[in-house]
Amino acid sequence: MKTLIVYFSWSNNTKKLVEAINKEFNFDVVRVEREVPYSNDYNTCAYVEAKEEVEKKIFPKIKKLEIDANDYDKILLFFPIWWYTFPMPIATFISSLGDYKGEIVVFANSYTNDPQYMINANRDLKNINPNITFKEGLFNQSVKNHIDFINGEINN
Ligand SMILES: Cc1cc2nc3c(=O)[nH]c(=O)nc-3n(C[C@H](O)[C@H](O)[C@H](O)COP(=O)(O)O)c2cc1C
Repeated sequence: MKTLIVYFSWSNNTKKLVEAINKEFNFDVVRVEREVPYSNDYNTCAYVEAKEEVEKKIFPKIKKLEIDANDYDKILLFFPIWWYTFPMPIATFISSLGDYKGEIVVFANSYTNDPQYMINANRDLKNINPNITFKEGLFNQSVKNHIDFINGEINN
């Protein structure tokens, strides 16, 4: 079975989480990036750019990925919560997958530990691409808990 990690990260919390987890697994990793990068200024990124995209459901262009996700049986998808759900570059990535036949396991992190965020994100992902099988992974958990969870996933 081939597994790929796909992640989005703006202030690098998710990047660091993925790197710490992947020391254990050494899966292929790809970062989703907006073609026009978000501002480095938090207020501009959060209250102008990201807010408008989420509210208006804008799917921003993303940089071309150097892998074909369809070569993998499983995708471990990591992102921070933005405005109560996933950042919209994740929406662009998911819609680009077409009828991906594998399974996508969803992992999120955020500043506030509100379990509703994960419910929102999973609901919104399914709405973008109902043909894809999504599985709820972990929300705001430690590196060790991620490693244990992913071991359970790949040994099943
Ligand atoms: C645009 C934006 C929107 C955010 N919205 C939320 C939110 O709705 N709820 C929350 O708890 N944290 C929110 N956060 C905080 C991030 O989810 C949190 O800091 C996360 O760990 C950042 O991950 P990153 O460093 O990989 O980008 C937001 C951050 C940004 C930049």
